[in-house]
Amino acid sequence: MRFICTLLPTLTLLLGPAAAQTQAQPPRLELCAACHGPQGNSQIPQIPSLAGQPRIFVENQLVLIREGLRDIPAMKGVLDGLKDSDLILLAKYFSEQVPVPLAGPVDTARFERGKVLAHSMLCGTCHLPDYKGREQMPRLAGQHESFLRAVMEEYRDKPGPGRDTVMNNALHGLNNQHLDDLAHFLANLR
Ligand code: HEC
Ligand code: HEC
Repeated sequence: MRFICTLLPTLTLLLGPAAAQTQAQPPRLELCAACHGPQGNSQIPQIPSLAGQPRIFVENQLVLIREGLRDIPAMKGVLDGLKDSDLILLAKYFSEQVPVPLAGPVDTARFERGKVLAHSMLCGTCHLPDYKGREQMPRLAGQHESFLRAVMEEYRDKPGPGRDTVMNNALHGLNNQHLDDLAHFLANLR
């Protein structure tokens, strides 16, 4: 993915700050909002919020999805025809939006079990101790519980193509109840 990261300074250099500003509107935002919600705050439990995700994480995933390396049937064709520079604009936009997690009932016992487990599994060494993510590691705090639960089971049991193997290793040996508790804790973290 390095080519994408090195492209950005080059573009700004070529176009100059004024030109870069006129180009700043990311494409297809309304389409994204139909599933990922207003400003990337998803209202649909199975669809992840994008607001406040690290820019590099979003950039990487967008390239993987556009190239068909990460298979998301719902997003089939959604990124067709977009250039690297479009994906960079989209990633920058979503990384700059403020996450507004939906409030749900918190089960204190499950929350505490998830917290202790995440700590003992060292999830925060990559996702940061506040689980806000950095670089290629996604934000987990305030993400939808159903999405977190489903995506962790996928990483553990049948990681699809394009998925980073570090997560398969990180969840190794955890049972379904562990995943329930982790998802509940992370989703309700503010
Ligand atoms: C028809 C619904 C739909 C539309 C439209 C859509 N997405 Fe998605 N997107 C999804 C679903 C569903 C997933 C999660 C798939 C999964 O469970 O792994 C996803 C995942 C993603 C992810 C990975 C997030 C993560 O945390 O793993 C990114 C980034 C993303 N979409 C960006 C976009 C952008 C940018 C647009 C607009 C150009 C867009 N999507 C339009 C449904 C959609
Ligand atoms: C060695 C670093 C590392 C550790 C440790 C780690 N993760 Fe991850 N995690 C990642 C990376 C990198 C990704 C993005 C993976 C990809 O691109 O497929 C990720 C993705 C995820 C996702 C998907 C989120 C999304 O929006 O798509 C979840 C959920 C997650 N991690 C939870 C955890 C939990 C819970 C733990 C502890 C049990 C953990 N991670 C430990 C690096 C790590």
